[in-house]
Order: sequence, then C-alpha cells, then structure tokens
Amino acid sequence: MLENAKDWMRTLLFAAGVAVVCGTLVSAVSVWLEPRQARNTQRDREAVLQSLLACQPELVAFLEDAAGAGLAGLDARLVDLDTGCYAPRADALCFDVEAAAADPHQRLTLSPEQDIASIGVRPNQVVVYEVRRDDELALLVLPVYGLGYGSRLDGFLSLGGDLDTVSSLVFYAHGETPGMGARIGDTDWQAAWRGKRTRDETGRLRIGVRVRPSGGESPYEIDAMTGATRTGVGVTNLLRFWLGDLGYASLIRNLESGARCVGEPA
Ligand SMILES: Cc1cc2nc3c(=O)[nH]c(=O)nc-3n(C[C@H](O)[C@H](O)[C@H](O)COP(=O)(O)O)c2cc1C
Repeated sequence: MLENAKDWMRTLLFAAGVAVVCGTLVSAVSVWLEPRQARNTQRDREAVLQSLLACQPELVAFLEDAAGAGLAGLDARLVDLDTGCYAPRADALCFDVEAAAADPHQRLTLSPEQDIASIGVRPNQVVVYEVRRDDELALLVLPVYGLGYGSRLDGFLSLGGDLDTVSSLVFYAHGETPGMGARIGDTDWQAAWRGKRTRDETGRLRIGVRVRPSGGESPYEIDAMTGATRTGVGVTNLLRFWLGDLGYASLIRNLESGARCVGEPA
C-alpha cells in the first residue's frame, strides 16, 4: 500500500517536473524568437512596399534618379488620424503602431457602428509613406487592415497625386482560405484596383468590391470573387473605414488643401 502511494507520488512529481521543464523551454524559445519574428514581419512589409513600387515604372525611375533605388524614396510620416497632421519626421522612424494600438492612451475604442472594419480599436497615430516628385505628392501609401472571412487582412493602399485614384492595393498578410478568399493575394486581383476612384463627385466613398455585378465596368469597384463574397465585403469595409472620417479623411483633406501641418519640412 505504502509502496503504491510512493509510486504515485513519484509519477506525479515526474509529470510536474516534465511540465515545468517543457513550459520553461517553450516560453524561452518564444521570447528568443520574438525579435526574429518582428524582423521577418518588417522584411515582409518592406518587400510589399518594394513590389508596390515595382508595379509603377514611372515612380521607380523617379526614385532611382532622385533618391537612389527602392525604399529610400519613400518618406515615412507619422500622422495623427484625428487632426490629419504630421508629427516631426524623426518620430516616424521608430514608431510602433502595434504597441500604440495596445495602449489605451494611444487608441480609440470603436463603437459597433463605427467599427465597420471589425478592428475593435484604432491607433491614434499611424505611419504612412509619401513619394514626392519636384515637391509635388506623387504617391501616398496608406496601411489598411480589417477583418475578412476568417482572418485579419493587412495591406497597403496607394493613392496617386490626386489623392483619389488608386495606384495599387496589396495585401501582405492574411489567413483566408487558399483558392477562395486567399485570391486577394493574386497579382491579377490586385492589378484590377489600379485606376479605380475612391469617391464620387459628391465626395461619397464608393470604392469597394461589387457583390452583384450589374454589367459594365465600375469606376469605383471591382467584381467579387466567386465563392469568396465575405472576403470581398471585408475588403470593402476596411477600405471605407480607413478612407473615412476615423481613418485618413482628415489627412487627405489637409494634403488636398495644402495645410501647413502636412506641408512643412521637419
Ligand atoms: C472551409 C470553408 C472555407 C471558406 N473560406 C472562405 C473565404 O476565405 N472567404 C470567403 O469569402 N468565403 C469563404 N467560405 C464561404 C463562405 O462561407 C460563404 O459561403 C461565401 O463567402 C459566400 O460566397 P458566394 O456568395 O460567392 O458563394 C468558406 C467556406 C468554407 C466551408
């Protein structure tokens, strides 16, 4: 009887020991891998920014002439979404958007009516990228994200110098179903956005994915992917959120009117 109890105790102690050792190992590995994961995410973002530029030969030529190739021509700016004004240039360099979104003092909790992109909270400040040609804005690159069918869709929307015509829309991270919603990563699908306009003459946001194509080309929308309507609805919602009043609308207005807070050299 006593022997039996001892065996039990030994087994329990052994199991507890294994659990503690494994738990410690898993935590240590995940802490060790964290900076590497952050670096990989950063590399993915930069690769997407590079491919975004590669689709626009005229800009690549300009960047090569003016500022050396690639990302060097992209000017990162930290924007306050409520005012649509830029912070001093240096602040954009090490700004951590994810950390800002996690800090209750640096984010806006969205009401269900506001939260059309299903993101819950919106950081107050975001890093956007400008490309200027002879001091004129040639391209504005805006991070956009929101919920698709079953995953968060992360991408960049770039607008031409008129701040209305889409230059490109690329998604660099999502977990949609391969062959269904994951087609938002296809180059054909992404190319279909080029030239679409975001607003109509009255200023209403019209950009999106057309769920029921009614024939003919739309100046604002691309057609939904068969079998992935919900991913398309997610894309429409996130574009309209980020281009709307809680997103980049103030910044776009300031850039259009040449407001000082977006024009001053810093
Ligand atoms: C396993 C599975 C995966 C799915 N993945 C997606 C997806 O990635 N995106 C999407 O919009 N719908 C997805 N759907 C389909 C949705 O449930 C829904 O039927 C679809 O969005 C409707 O699109 P349709 O009207 O074009 O058929 C998936 C369904 C199943 C069963």
